[in-house]
Amino acid sequence: MKLTYLGHSCFSVAAGGKTLLFDPFITPNPLAAHIDINAIQADYILLSHGHADHVADAAAIAKRTGATVIAPFEVGNWVARQGVDKVQHMNHGGKIHLDFGTVKLTNAIHSSSLPDGSYGGNPAGFLVTANGESFYYSGDTALTCDMKLIGDSTQLKFAVLPVGDNFTMGYEDALIAADFVKCDQVVGVHYDTFPPIKIDHDKAIKFFHQAGKTLHLPKIGDSLNF
Ligand code: NI
Ligand code: MN
Repeated sequence: MKLTYLGHSCFSVAAGGKTLLFDPFITPNPLAAHIDINAIQADYILLSHGHADHVADAAAIAKRTGATVIAPFEVGNWVARQGVDKVQHMNHGGKIHLDFGTVKLTNAIHSSSLPDGSYGGNPAGFLVTANGESFYYSGDTALTCDMKLIGDSTQLKFAVLPVGDNFTMGYEDALIAADFVKCDQVVGVHYDTFPPIKIDHDKAIKFFHQAGKTLHLPKIGDSLNF
């Protein structure tokens, strides 16, 4: 599975012959100014919750690519109101079977409201499986024991976890989360975009390394193969 980092919590994963795009926030992100949103491909766009730093470019990319948006119920309603035709509404604990594999909506401890102020339901993460390989994206969340359920049920190739602190867990708690989900390969997201979430990259990478795990902090636009 190939992951491409697009800044903040936005990344795409090529899995099962399809391209899955997560939490698109590109045009408002000065750090991602070199990313052309018109060049981004997507068969599916997965939204973890309704905050603008996760949904800003979702409708525009969905309309251009014809991608199906997968989102928690209330976030899906907002996306549909933006004129997106193909929306797959989900709720926590539910799993759907798609042409490339399965998607399960997992718990997250955070909040969720849409850019127009409407109610966003509860925030979520995703457990994705394609061709017998799985990865987990936690979405914006605190460290939570619920993550142990994922580690107990599913062997992960990699996990995508927030590491920026302040609005989500920081990298210290993300290391515990990696233990809970039993995964040694972590891609850090949700850091550096805003002053309160700036992190010391070397310190965070060393913190994981000393525990025998790898924290990947790819440059925006770079890809990793798992
Ligand atoms: Ni958020
Ligand atoms: Mn966020």
